Amino acid sequence: MTQTSQFLDQPVASADLRNVMGCYLTGVTIVTLAGPDKKPYGLTVTSFNSVSLSPPLILWSLDNRNDKLPMFQDTRGFAVNIMAADQLTLCKTFASADNDRFSNCNWRFGAYGQPLLENALANLECRPWAEYDGGDHTIFVGEVVSIKQNKGKAAAFFNGKLGQHEG
Ligand SMILES: Cc1cc2nc3c(=O)[nH]c(=O)nc-3n(C[C@H](O)[C@H](O)[C@H](O)COP(=O)(O)O)c2cc1C
Repeated sequence: MTQTSQFLDQPVASADLRNVMGCYLTGVTIVTLAGPDKKPYGLTVTSFNSVSLSPPLILWSLDNRNDKLPMFQDTRGFAVNIMAADQLTLCKTFASADNDRFSNCNWRFGAYGQPLLENALANLECRPWAEYDGGDHTIFVGEVVSIKQNKGKAAAFFNGKLGQHEG
């Protein structure tokens, strides 16, 4: 047996994976949706990525412990807001225990009824395409049905810290 196959028998420790993923620099998004009563909900997300151009698909993953999981599983749509460098405070607010997240920012409902954060680098409205088991997360794939893009510097996440990408 080679050394490599011995390693392949064992998954790595979750702390090691968390550490190594910290050195993969990402942008920062806030994923939003309108609840059944149209009440907006959103959370900070870095697991966002593109999947397919035709059809236009993106993905992100939600922690299964999040009590809004059933809402995302039942929704007719959600939005991904790609955050700008000057919106780091909002990124923190939407990852905190603050229950009044939307009172701290300007937002509006988009053409497909999802909450869009103003002055984000981009707003993508999506309708559900697929949902997959992702271990302790649920992976949501969305079909992008509308896009708004602004120019500017990006919010970034690296080594556990929020920062600014100079562009
Ligand atoms: C930089 C950053 C990235 C995050 N990415 C994700 C993610 O991809 N998926 C997820 O479920 N939570 C992610 N979180 C955690 C949620 O934003 C956080 O737990 C939030 O408070 C969950 O919303 P809730 O308080 O309404 O449950 C991230 C937090 C931070 C600070």
